[in-house]
Amino acid sequence: MNVMATEHSMVIRSATEKDLNRVLEIDRLSFPAPWTHLCFKLILKDIFFVIEQKVFVIEQKEIIGFIVVCLCNLRLRAEILRIAVHPDHRGKGIAKALIETSLQTFSKENVESVELEVNAANRSAVKLYEKFGFKIKRIATFMVDQDFHIFYLMKLKLYDPEKVKYQLPKEYYHVVDYYDLQITA
Ligand SMILES: CC(C)(COP(=O)(O)OP(=O)(O)OC[C@H]1O[C@@H](n2cnc3c(N)ncnc32)[C@H](O)[C@@H]1OP(=O)(O)O)[C@@H](O)C(=O)NCCC(=O)NCCS
Repeated sequence: MNVMATEHSMVIRSATEKDLNRVLEIDRLSFPAPWTHLCFKLILKDIFFVIEQKVFVIEQKEIIGFIVVCLCNLRLRAEILRIAVHPDHRGKGIAKALIETSLQTFSKENVESVELEVNAANRSAVKLYEKFGFKIKRIATFMVDQDFHIFYLMKLKLYDPEKVKYQLPKEYYHVVDYYDLQITA
């Protein structure tokens, strides 16, 4: 289980099935089309972090946000599917902490890029992603509840195999070029 201490007695850890009721509550408060219990349950085996903070009065911990990520293309590409913070705890760096933890996990897994889709009108989310260096790669228009919505496909490149290739010694390329010619001839 991934556990990471953050400031103010907060802990980020992998979600378990026991967390799902609270996750569903935050999801309902955060999205017009909330996910079902089954959706969250199915994604438990992927990257699914919750952040919890100590509630000193009752000496318990309470989940205040979560992030759900799936790894695709032989785990080379990650996709942020869902991130939400309880409305009472927004604007305190909780989403930033969740994304930072996910990025640390991606670097251990050799993930090359991270993608996500975000409603262009969701300025706080767009700004959050831009803060981490995500760039708009595509713009799409969807019909949601009979209204047109503009969505951004945003991408963050973590590791560029092309750049690594160009850092290799020159001799290596002679061999590769020669070998390629032999194959195509
Ligand atoms: C988007 C969301 C996850 C941000 O969570 P948060 O914990 O409040 O965000 P943070 O405090 O970590 O802020 C990180 C950065 O995001 C941006 N941001 C967050 N809230 C913002 C706001 N209301 N206005 C503008 N920028 C905002 C800022 O760049 C901020 O960095 P800064 O504080 O250094 O300026 C939260 O508002 C939320 O749960 N929204 C509903 C669900 C949702 O829209 N999820 C995203 C779907 S793609």
